[in-house]
Amino acid sequence: MQRFTLLFVLLALLASVSAHFTLTYPVSRGFVADKEPTSPCGSFDTLQNRTLFPISGGFVEIKSGHVKASFQINIIFNSNPQNADFTAAANSSASVKTNMDHPGYSCFPFDLSANSLATNGTNATIQTIFDSGEGAILYQCTDVILTTNASDWNSSACINSTITSSSGNSTSSGNSTATTPSKSDAAALMQHGFVAIVIVVVSLVMNL
Ligand SMILES: *[C@@H]1O[C@H](CO)[C@@H](O)[C@H](O)[C@H]1NC(C)=O
Ligand SMILES: *[C@@H]1O[C@H](CO)[C@@H](O)[C@H](O)[C@H]1NC(C)=O
Ligand SMILES: *[C@@H]1O[C@H](CO)[C@@H](O)[C@H](O)[C@H]1NC(C)=O
Ligand SMILES: *[C@@H]1O[C@H](CO)[C@@H](O)[C@H](O)[C@H]1NC(C)=O
Ligand SMILES: *[C@@H]1O[C@H](CO)[C@@H](O)[C@H](O)[C@H]1NC(C)=O
Ligand SMILES: *[C@@H]1O[C@H](CO)[C@@H](O)[C@H](O)[C@H]1NC(C)=O
Ligand SMILES: *[C@@H]1O[C@H](CO)[C@@H](O)[C@H](O)[C@H]1NC(C)=O
Ligand SMILES: *[C@@H]1O[C@H](CO)[C@@H](O)[C@H](O)[C@H]1NC(C)=O
Ligand SMILES: *[C@@H]1O[C@H](CO)[C@@H](O)[C@H](O)[C@H]1NC(C)=O
Repeated sequence: MQRFTLLFVLLALLASVSAHFTLTYPVSRGFVADKEPTSPCGSFDTLQNRTLFPISGGFVEIKSGHVKASFQINIIFNSNPQNADFTAAANSSASVKTNMDHPGYSCFPFDLSANSLATNGTNATIQTIFDSGEGAILYQCTDVILTTNASDWNSSACINSTITSSSGNSTSSGNSTATTPSKSDAAALMQHGFVAIVIVVVSLVMNL
């Protein structure tokens, strides 16, 4: 009985870390796992509180259980963007198309200092699009005010977690000097979760 419970818990944990991504900084409009495939903002269609976003040296931070994904950042220069604005922004030269190459936390620079639309005090919405190739395309958005003086901006939130070896050695790179063990929990779970399930299944079979 206990083993079945444990198996379910492990499966649930694995599913929860592997199937989605979250925008962790700046704060997302919202996240609901089932609705994250809903364009353009994972079902969060209305404006939320704005974060002061630096025109120079900005970034977005995400967390996911996937090992690889293609990732796109779009910006919509509009105080209340609608679907058509998001569609148009996806083709803009301001978009960043990149790749995520590790599970856990990822920091993607998003510098707007060369963009003439990014003037001090401009309202904008940043849309992030995540495609692991293993399921639906996923969406998260954040509402911002672009500024030369992002006094509350947290540069320490820019973290790339990296699993460096099968021994589970975990390090961090990018704009951060250190990472806490919790930063690689999702990654570690991805790496060891399947092994744990195999062990549970084998022990079940041997006892029955
Ligand atoms: C948005 O800001 C208002 C005023 O500062 C605050 O009361 C509210 O809790 C904030 N909402 C969220 C979702 O953080
Ligand atoms: C975006 O670009 C693609 C291919 O270049 C094009 O097919 C599509 O119509 C464009 N969409 C918009 C909204 O401009
Ligand atoms: C973090 O890793 C991603 C690849 O997953 C890379 O594109 C990005 O530039 C890295 N961020 C920093 C700040 O090094
Ligand atoms: C940009 O706006 C902020 C807040 O309104 C202000 O503190 C800052 O001085 C402005 N920067 C420039 C270059 O005008
Ligand atoms: C920016 O957005 C806020 C609501 O989030 C709105 O109150 C304000 O008027 C907008 N500013 C401009 C210049 O449109
Ligand atoms: C930046 O903003 C802070 C608080 O919003 C303000 O005290 C400071 O004077 C501003 N700095 C500049 C250069 O405008
Ligand atoms: C900035 O981000 C780091 C890393 O996520 C976090 O530990 C720290 O509490 C944040 N600082 C503030 C002021 O929110
Ligand atoms: C972990 O990896 C880092 C960087 O590759 C290395 O400096 C460190 O010695 C390693 N730690 C262990 C315990 O293997
Ligand atoms: C992180 O970036 C900020 C400004 O973007 C800089 O002031 C700080 O020194 C950087 N920290 C590290 C550890 O590179």
